[in-house]
Amino acid sequence: MLAYCGVTESPSFLGVGLVTMALRGRWVPIPKVARTAAAVDAIVLEEIAERRRTGSRPDDCLTMFLELNEQEDEPHDDAFLARSMRGLMLAGYAATAVTLGWLADYLVHQPDALAALEESVDRGEDGYLDAVVAEALRLRPALPVTGRRAQRAFNLNGLLVPPGAYIVIAITALHQRADLHPDPLAFRPERFLGSRPETHTWLPFGGGVHRCLGDELALFEARVLLRTLLQHRRLSAVDARPGGRASRTHPLLVPAGGAPVVLSARDRTGQSAPPNG
Ligand code: HEM
Repeated sequence: MLAYCGVTESPSFLGVGLVTMALRGRWVPIPKVARTAAAVDAIVLEEIAERRRTGSRPDDCLTMFLELNEQEDEPHDDAFLARSMRGLMLAGYAATAVTLGWLADYLVHQPDALAALEESVDRGEDGYLDAVVAEALRLRPALPVTGRRAQRAFNLNGLLVPPGAYIVIAITALHQRADLHPDPLAFRPERFLGSRPETHTWLPFGGGVHRCLGDELALFEARVLLRTLLQHRRLSAVDARPGGRASRTHPLLVPAGGAPVVLSARDRTGQSAPPNG
């Protein structure tokens, strides 16, 4: 699975994605993607066959997929189920990992926010923690754009959208509108303190019927990981360069240079011990 994820993170995958959009959805096959995808699908297909053979139904996502599929009037074939599982695993892994990277990157370059977060974590509160995660997702949503294809013509605030048109929803541009988010380029978690982000002005997980399926899981993961990390370690910057710099060659919005940080042991008084890398 990691080999497949690695290929989907390459600049050539980004290029193919852009060409696919230009060709109105016609996918240009990349042999390396096809090879690594087939290797993942083979494992899932074997697992499906094994479950059918033994009648085993462990309490997991694949069982849910299989059971829902059995209830369909026209069930999908196993290749479709394996492909869908692969999509879910990719969606669940990459965007969450990238978001955790951005959180570390912003925090080490914003000592005030980091100190406020450490204090709130020590008090056992989650409010500031959630605000920090929401602010990182506002400034650096792992998926900076999403899109839809118009099934029929419709009028969008005076603009007639023809059927078949691709609509690109620029999440980052919306998140950086000063009328919606004052001082939009500043990392200011306080803007989300005491209120949940607003559905139509904060779209890191998209919206509507195709809104991210894993949004709550991703937020939960970020909260637990950050809280646990700060309880045991102190984060600091590797160098004085400002945070928030994005790579230009990655299909997702990821930190340039991989966001390295220094982790130090944290003693019971909250003081940091010498860095251990
Ligand atoms: C911070 C982490 C994540 C971010 C920023 C993120 C972001 C997104 C975005 C922007 C979309 C497109 C939504 C739209 O077009 O309206 C999406 C779709 C999706 N995401 Fe996530 N996602 C994250 C984590 C996850 C996780 C953990 C899972 C699963 C375990 C997941 C599963 C999916 C799936 C299945 C879709 C497709 C939904 C559909 O087309 O109906 N995502 N995600």
